[in-house]
Amino acid sequence: MSDAQTNELIEVLAKEYNLQDYEEAYASFDWQEVEKEFSWYTTGKVNAAYEAIDRHVENGRGDDIALYYSDPVRDERYTFADLKALSNKFGNVLKKYGVNKGDRVFIFMPRSPELYAALLGAVKIGAIVGPLFEAFMEAAVKDRLEDAEAVAIITTPKLKDRVRVQELPALKHVFLVGAEGEQADHEIDFHQEMQEASDQLEIEWMDREDGLVLHYTSGSTGKPKGVLHVHNAMIQHFQTAKWVLDLRRGDVYWCTADPGWVTGTAYGIWGPWLHGVTNVIRGGRFSPDDWYGTLQRYQVSVWYSAPTAFRMLMGAGDELVKKYDLSAVRHILSVGEPLNAEVVRWGLKVYGKRIHDNWWMTETGGQMISNYPSLPMKPGSMGKPFPGIYAAIVDDSGNELPANTMGNLAIRAPWPSMMRRIWNNPAKYEEYFRLQPWYISGDSAYRDEDGYFWFQGRIDDVINTSGERVGPFEVESKLVEHPAIAEAGVIGKPDPLRGEIIKAFIALREGYEPSEQLIEEIRDFVKKGLAAHAAPREIEFRDKLPKTRSGKIMRRVLKAWELGLPTGDLSTLED
Ligand code: WTA
Repeated sequence: MSDAQTNELIEVLAKEYNLQDYEEAYASFDWQEVEKEFSWYTTGKVNAAYEAIDRHVENGRGDDIALYYSDPVRDERYTFADLKALSNKFGNVLKKYGVNKGDRVFIFMPRSPELYAALLGAVKIGAIVGPLFEAFMEAAVKDRLEDAEAVAIITTPKLKDRVRVQELPALKHVFLVGAEGEQADHEIDFHQEMQEASDQLEIEWMDREDGLVLHYTSGSTGKPKGVLHVHNAMIQHFQTAKWVLDLRRGDVYWCTADPGWVTGTAYGIWGPWLHGVTNVIRGGRFSPDDWYGTLQRYQVSVWYSAPTAFRMLMGAGDELVKKYDLSAVRHILSVGEPLNAEVVRWGLKVYGKRIHDNWWMTETGGQMISNYPSLPMKPGSMGKPFPGIYAAIVDDSGNELPANTMGNLAIRAPWPSMMRRIWNNPAKYEEYFRLQPWYISGDSAYRDEDGYFWFQGRIDDVINTSGERVGPFEVESKLVEHPAIAEAGVIGKPDPLRGEIIKAFIALREGYEPSEQLIEEIRDFVKKGLAAHAAPREIEFRDKLPKTRSGKIMRRVLKAWELGLPTGDLSTLED
């Protein structure tokens, strides 16, 4: 990039940001100061849902709009007082059915006001919430509910068949939002229960270290891991929402992520509502017109989205942007995958705003490295560590590496929103912290001489397609369940729009021949059995796949094949 372009991007126009001076804040920051922002600092009583909703009602802001919800058929608004009442009601419903503090309650449905009321209600009674993305199919749903021993699930009539109740002995209650007619014994009509329930609830006061949300996420091996976050995370959600999202009273904020992913809870629920700002939730499918229309209609001031979405909007062209009034947009952010410098420059051109990239993971629970509105930006960089966070590049023994050297992106543990457990898997948890005092992220990066971090890639085989993490092992396991498939190896193939797409290399069983029809069938098999976003977009048949002598498929070699690169050390190859 030319110097002129850089200068354009580092020019910081307004000066009224929540974080005025990054360097000064970084030098003097103390997490303990943040605690004073919450009621529990004086009452000693902790519950994240209380702090996010009820506190504002008690402070005379009950009539402020908390939520604008719309989709192609619904168009609604809810105040903080409304959300307090609705979540209280659902808390009472869960209590009526004997759900207790610490029980796992899953939510498996498209975004809707009911989803948010149910999630907040479950948190209010001390349950641990497990939000599931609506695209998951039977096997994926079962794996997660089984591992967590969920006792209840809130879902819809359309999705309920994907919940194999008979195979889940711990699961006692299935709440159906929009139930009609007859229900099976374990099924409960959500709306009917809500009507009958009291809107007065005795909130369960929690310990700061008690469980809040369980997010399942993918690694390179094994089944998805249940990453547990605790109420204490709100300290980080609050402060990052203040300095990274730059939220202020009066903002209308739109986070486009689904609560099935960590961005959709940390910054789709906690961040905005801890600040009492208006949250926009838009249901339905993505389309550039729909998104610009949403920004215009609600006069969104802060907009948090993801690189794939920005790239799609870029693909929709500059002219489209001019059809909409986006003048209320003050601040734009991105997370989930690398944000190309090109997209940042395009954003500057068409929106007249910088798109602020930030880096974090399900496991970190909150933003770790970020661009801030008052900090000069280097397009393509993830920015600098949040105050109170020490990030470094370390070698495989945990030694810090000098500037401009690629290595493991690591964070000094602990921090307030750090995961506290991997459900049922303490060994997996320990792995992240094997090089004390570091948390090892699994990403590689380098830090430049000015302290900016630059993402380089994943160290393991985890695939990031459109910002969604997909474990190759999970897809491979599903593939080999197909009768035609003998062996399968799955990799992420670089893609200009989606970052990566899923590509499967497949060896067929005797008697099966490659065909277009078979490709379609296999894709459908993964879509129906696992999730649409996990289905390989590309399939290539091979007679044999490269394996180690112990029988492990060498994805590294598949990747080299794909990219036309040398295959490297093949000494462990089977033959
Ligand atoms: C990747 C999403 C490049 C990274 C909040 C990380 C990024 C994984 C960025 C976590 C970024 C996230 N630039 N890559 N700004 N942000 N990633 O758990 O590989 O769904 O480890 O959390 O996404 O994905 P997860």
